[in-house]
Amino acid sequence: MAAKSPRSVDEIRADFPALRRCHRNQPVAFFDGPGGTQVPQQVIDAMSDYLARHNANTHWAYPTSQETDRLIGEARLAVADLLGAGADEVAFGLNMTSLTFHLARGLVRGWDAGDEIVLTELEHHGNIAPWEAAAADRGLVVRRVPFRVDEGTLDVDQVIGAFGPRTRLVAIGWASNALGTVSDVGTVVAAAAGRGITTFVDAVHAVPHVLPDVRRLGCDFLACSAYKFYGPHLGILYGRAAALLAVEVPKVRPAPDTIPERIETGTQSHEAIVGCRAAIDFLAGLAQGADRRTALEAAYRILHERGTALQERLWRGLAALPGVALFGPPPAAPRTPTVAFVVKGIRSTDVAARLAEKGLFLSHGDFYAKTVVERLGLGPQGLVRAGCACYTTADEVDRLIAGVASLPS
Ligand SMILES: Cc1ncc(COP(=O)(O)O)c(C=O)c1O
Repeated sequence: MAAKSPRSVDEIRADFPALRRCHRNQPVAFFDGPGGTQVPQQVIDAMSDYLARHNANTHWAYPTSQETDRLIGEARLAVADLLGAGADEVAFGLNMTSLTFHLARGLVRGWDAGDEIVLTELEHHGNIAPWEAAAADRGLVVRRVPFRVDEGTLDVDQVIGAFGPRTRLVAIGWASNALGTVSDVGTVVAAAAGRGITTFVDAVHAVPHVLPDVRRLGCDFLACSAYKFYGPHLGILYGRAAALLAVEVPKVRPAPDTIPERIETGTQSHEAIVGCRAAIDFLAGLAQGADRRTALEAAYRILHERGTALQERLWRGLAALPGVALFGPPPAAPRTPTVAFVVKGIRSTDVAARLAEKGLFLSHGDFYAKTVVERLGLGPQGLVRAGCACYTTADEVDRLIAGVASLPS
């Protein structure tokens, strides 16, 4: 039987009710994916079906509770396929930031004053503040490695060069949510693992664009957020089984001390967990494969191809406009289809507001990558950020370029 071709962008778009929205008589083009993608009908249906028919708390002996247990278990399996992990290595939480605060507090218990944590300046502060807070509690030293400001990239040798005999942890972002830079986290993780240093990867901006394989990567922990890959607002923490078991997280005593539950706190958003599984199935359904992981691999290859074409088109179109300055690595470098720019003489807030009048929805500011924006010397207005997603079309990209071109100088 001939293999079915991957789903076209038009077919994908039909799944997203949000894309039917108009603003000032123009169809809305959502370029705000790095802040949170739109959600397909499959995810909305799964969440409302859970709430309508299966809603319960966990671990009790009646059907809706048992169904909830089963649905959470199935969601862990789906995330395991997405990350290349085991289902017992997948913990859920409110978002990446709160999971990381929780993990950080537990991880540093037992570390000695003067032990060191290595971070980079290319991070979202969700991957800075939790480590700094934990370090302050225990008298640890935080070393922050700068990035190359001209191209918005990390020098991984410099990150590795920051490791010393007291380094206990390196926490590094896989992809910059501000500039789209994809960093060579594999080399950093391998070097750290060889020295017995714990590794934490912030994959929130990477996972919508890069399919992780945590076993191959070899990291101890990796965090991401379902709302960046077409799911609901939910955080995900992968931890290598032994690492998850070892971390001394604060616990409410009767709660299970087995993995992955020992890392989770209180009652979860079951509907979001169910929605997360539906988002992963949606992604896997973009292409074909013998099983979900293989389908995801095929889907991500297509997403990468389409995303690369869109970001090249966007980058070149914007670069040709007078008064537009682009930041981050050029299209040929490893990057996500997230393009950051400023328009000379116009505040980023005003750029975003004027583009919104044309039905072009973009985010602006520092996106919590505050140090990145500071190092770029941009001040509080920060950047304008356009992110392409699986539903973005070349037409929308052209509308955006024309919209920026039409801004009064
Ligand atoms: C790279 C990166 N890290 C961390 C976060 C924080 O994620 P959450 O909102 O799930 O806490 C974000 C959110 O935008 C992000 O883009």
